Amino acid sequence: MDGPWPAAGSGLFGVNGFDGLDLEWLRERPGKKWSAVDADVLPAWVADMDFPAPPPVRRALHALVEGADLGYPSWGDGTPLREAFADRMHARFGWSPDPARVREIDDIIGGLQLTLRLAGVDGGAGAGDGLVAVHTPCYPPFLDALSGFGRRLLPIPMVDDGAGWNFDLDRLDGELRESGCRTLLLVNPQNPTGRVFTRAELGGLAELARRHDLLVIADEVHADLAHPPHRHIPFASLGADAAGRTVTLTSATKAFNLAGVRCAVAQVGPDRLLAAWDAQPVNLFGVPNLFGVAATLAAWRDGDRWLTDVLAHLGARRLQLADTLGRRLPAVRHHPPQAGYLAWIDCRDLGLGADPAAAFLSRGRVELSPGGHFGPGGDGHVRLNFATSAELLARILDRMCAASHR
Ligand SMILES: Cc1ncc(COP(=O)(O)O)c(C=O)c1O
Repeated sequence: MDGPWPAAGSGLFGVNGFDGLDLEWLRERPGKKWSAVDADVLPAWVADMDFPAPPPVRRALHALVEGADLGYPSWGDGTPLREAFADRMHARFGWSPDPARVREIDDIIGGLQLTLRLAGVDGGAGAGDGLVAVHTPCYPPFLDALSGFGRRLLPIPMVDDGAGWNFDLDRLDGELRESGCRTLLLVNPQNPTGRVFTRAELGGLAELARRHDLLVIADEVHADLAHPPHRHIPFASLGADAAGRTVTLTSATKAFNLAGVRCAVAQVGPDRLLAAWDAQPVNLFGVPNLFGVAATLAAWRDGDRWLTDVLAHLGARRLQLADTLGRRLPAVRHHPPQAGYLAWIDCRDLGLGADPAAAFLSRGRVELSPGGHFGPGGDGHVRLNFATSAELLARILDRMCAASHR
């Protein structure tokens, strides 16, 4: 045992081994997901999984501590993350980014803010420069980051056409032309709808990016979590034009459940942006942390067996959720996410008002993410995190059903 959970190789880590979660152990976890809720509440909100971090990551962190050298690392100009990222993109997605264009950052939000700042589109330069196009509903901290920078949103509405979530490329083309917007924040896989954009959709966006000379900031942090048959395609892999205008932001934190390690990378395609990045005073953006780098390297290099197992488990929970909602809450609308463990659920026909998450909390003692936080198109929806055991998910859904039928 190397923690309050069974060690690697025990049942908890078997192919189907993410089900033995102990509620007492979960309630004692110091992380935000469980510690920020009352003791009688089941949390299914913030995007952390209920599983322990992958064994290779824990082993790497232990080895670092046991090795007892926590002095300045000998990384030279860049950390080994640059090569590891490039190797991983090649192996998983057939994309060969240049490691020399990779820069370490603390997190995705920081990477977004840094990119906006360095791109010099701080709201002053031209009519469209204050605008950022982004699919909505949208991951809430991005909305906060954009407004914090004085940016305005050019929403690209995700529309439920009955079969799934889609957006209108022609409408976007017209709006880009009229508004003069010069920046696209592309979150793919998308949060909260869980869409994995197809090659055709991405190709359409790449063509608009070329036509309207957009800077593309591509958040691909959920890429490793695509559920088959959906396949993630890195935007910058679409061709030379896309590569040259895209900053790709990613990390191991979502797929490997490491949000607290604060370690991510940016692959900076635009030459001017990379030059601006490197021209900043030394250490202005902080310096990568030994533990974050070790955890990320272990996840990317040695974590794929765990990733395969967790994806099999999440795939089964995704079916469990769809089955339960279909049978017991037929009034809600929901399309299983094509990636990840976040389900976006339209509760408008449940009669629970504009903020169903508040009703699920007060009546059912279940903490979900309120749809209204996700910007345009969010009211009346909730986002449910199903990265837990089958048993706990069943209890969460039981409580939601009971709360809806009161
Ligand atoms: C789409 C997306 N981007 C970024 C993040 C968070 O990244 P970070 O914690 O590195 O800022 C999340 C977290 O859930 C996310 O869903």
